[in-house]
Amino acid sequence: MITFNCHSLICPLCGQIPVQRGGSLVCPENHTFDIARQGYVNLLPVQQKHSLAPGDTPEMLSARRIFLNEGHYSPICADVVQALGEVPGGVSDIVDVGCGEGYYTCEFLGNYPKAHIIGADISKAAVKMAASRTKQISWITATASHLPIADRSADAVTAVFSLLCEEEFARILRPGGRVIEVTSGTDHLIELKRIIYDDVFEQHKHPKPMQGFLNEVSCELKRFSMTLSGRQLADLLLMTPHTLRIRPEKRAALEATPSLGLTVEYFVRVLELSSRK
Ligand SMILES: C[S@@+](CC[C@H](N)C(=O)[O-])C[C@H]1O[C@@H](n2cnc3c(N)ncnc32)[C@H](O)[C@@H]1O
Repeated sequence: MITFNCHSLICPLCGQIPVQRGGSLVCPENHTFDIARQGYVNLLPVQQKHSLAPGDTPEMLSARRIFLNEGHYSPICADVVQALGEVPGGVSDIVDVGCGEGYYTCEFLGNYPKAHIIGADISKAAVKMAASRTKQISWITATASHLPIADRSADAVTAVFSLLCEEEFARILRPGGRVIEVTSGTDHLIELKRIIYDDVFEQHKHPKPMQGFLNEVSCELKRFSMTLSGRQLADLLLMTPHTLRIRPEKRAALEATPSLGLTVEYFVRVLELSSRK
């Protein structure tokens, strides 16, 4: 039987603290959540689910796993790891929201092996795949807007190319804790977009403004270049929403490309609790 670390988790239905009983997490109100044999728990109530299978498809997730495992985005990961190292008071409890197939979450564990880490994603397929990486992380399906996590329990909340829900992240953050967010910059993968679309309308990108629950500690625009083969480009394409829009002849041309140099541009924003709210 899998032992599931439910430290700082709360019941998504009544907010009380669950304990493991056999193969399930059970709260004092007897709300019961099975621990899947793959090592994750579904804590996403049906009423918080907006579609039958929310999130990336298994095909998109497999491409993401291959691409990320090859280390192409390791500089991004290194930036988040560095920001985690700068959290005042240290990081014993980390929540990775929108963890996807778990690449970054596992890297956080590698760098902070004593930390308790929760990997949360709305997609069951993503969390199931993430759980195949390690059972040392508490993998849960949950939505970023209603995290089944106790108030003031997290030292750090990470959101790498996922969703930032300011008020909810502020609720689970302990005083002095930090949110670390990665979002794409205007020129992110611009060379790929120029191949996919006949006209690329350069949309100026910037992380969205805060509403008063969190304050910005820093926001840095970072950039590096990578060169990818046709096969790697195909994986990258599958990881992005562009895969839904690309015309078949453009996809074929891209996959036949011997290699392409690409710009990776992203913001690393660090936020802390605001004293105003
Ligand atoms: C672009 S992927 C990034 C995944 C991972 N952080 C990475 O960079 O490899 C965005 C992830 O956010 C998840 N997601 C989307 N909406 C969400 C929500 N409301 N709550 C939690 N996760 C969500 C998706 O299922 C997907 O796995």
